[in-house]
Amino acid sequence: MLAAAAAVYTGGSGSGSGSAARELAVGARLRAEGVPAELVAAAFTQAELRHRAAAKFARAEEMFFTRAGLEQASSQAAAEHRAARFAGRRRLADLCTGIGGDALALAPGREILLVDRDPVHLRMAALNVAAHGAHRVDTLLADVRDADLTGYDGVFVDPARRTGDRRLASRASEPPLPWCFALADRVAAVAVKAAPGLATDQVPPGWEIEFVADGRDLKEAVLFSPALATTERRATVLHPASPEGRPVSLVGIPDPAEPGGPVAAPGQYLYDPSPAVTRAGLVGELARRLGAWQIDPMIAFLSSDTPVASPFARLLQICASLPFDVRRLAGELRGRGIGSLEIRRRGLAGDVDELRRRLLPRRRDLVAGGPAITLVMTRLRDEPWAFLCTHWFPDARPLPRPSLIG
Ligand SMILES: C[S@@+](CC[C@H](N)C(=O)[O-])C[C@H]1O[C@@H](n2cnc3c(N)ncnc32)[C@H](O)[C@@H]1O
Repeated sequence: MLAAAAAVYTGGSGSGSGSAARELAVGARLRAEGVPAELVAAAFTQAELRHRAAAKFARAEEMFFTRAGLEQASSQAAAEHRAARFAGRRRLADLCTGIGGDALALAPGREILLVDRDPVHLRMAALNVAAHGAHRVDTLLADVRDADLTGYDGVFVDPARRTGDRRLASRASEPPLPWCFALADRVAAVAVKAAPGLATDQVPPGWEIEFVADGRDLKEAVLFSPALATTERRATVLHPASPEGRPVSLVGIPDPAEPGGPVAAPGQYLYDPSPAVTRAGLVGELARRLGAWQIDPMIAFLSSDTPVASPFARLLQICASLPFDVRRLAGELRGRGIGSLEIRRRGLAGDVDELRRRLLPRRRDLVAGGPAITLVMTRLRDEPWAFLCTHWFPDARPLPRPSLIG
């Protein structure tokens, strides 16, 4: 029955009127065969969730999900990257296991204890982990506060986030972060997953905090107890645009005296650091590695006169540099016959869609085959500023020095 339901989502686009019509037809056939309506509905839900879960898990079609469980689950890439920290540890406890997104990366070749107070999640986690191989899996349906951790040499905890609390305070999770940190008094090697907006002053002394982005999307923060920590701050990019595509990390200790490195006038190139780097406070570290500088002490854009490709930043060539003025920018863009426009901003407020409409009011403002331009809105020496840029790539023709307009 699950295979029949799955075919509805794999047979076409997976959404829209095509899959709705296929679902109706398959549902009618299954019910005519005597399958109870609730079972048919459950099979369709599972098939739809597996289809969506393929973005997170390589073997999603063999796994089980609830809608909330899938939404909260770590992606396989993030979980595998994190699990490497527990190398050499044989008995792990995965607290707040959910549907087992982390457990399936932690389990292979180990003894693992899965704990959750939600019986459906716990059962799904056990099935999902079994499908990925473990030396031994134990489950405990309980509040994690009641788990006996004696004999375990590593603990991972991914507390539930209270929805609606955007402040991401330490108590905005269940169990609260202070409880999670105190686990290190019982088992030395502890990793805690947290929201990426977590204030860094909540990190206990001696712990490492890692900010993880997938491509350009900031996904999560992970805190490692002193027994697992190897640095103070880490910024990791999963699936970087580099050829090998493996996760890459930038590590360092933020320098409070010079958080973003030296400051100077913009050069020919602009770097837009990964949100993992900015959250980790490692813009200064990145600047040092790239031989770059900040263009304003309050803004995380970096600049240089030599292009250095990096998985930790988008690299742009500056074509023009001018005070931010919509009419003048619109004239500049029209004069260049551009093919597309992307707008990036840091340090300047405003509605990007509205700005795009004002900059390119007519269809013919975009020219087929014209250059793809990125408009960077920011602040320079405390003044609203704009850069017109193109993306840099290894064969890019160096542009003349950017014109400073106005
Ligand atoms: C964020 S999800 C875990 C996601 C998981 N790491 C994954 O990748 O699939 C949080 C889970 O914690 C469970 N949970 C929250 N508070 C708990 C508590 N006090 N004791 C046990 N489980 C709890 C919820 O039932 C939920 O399944």
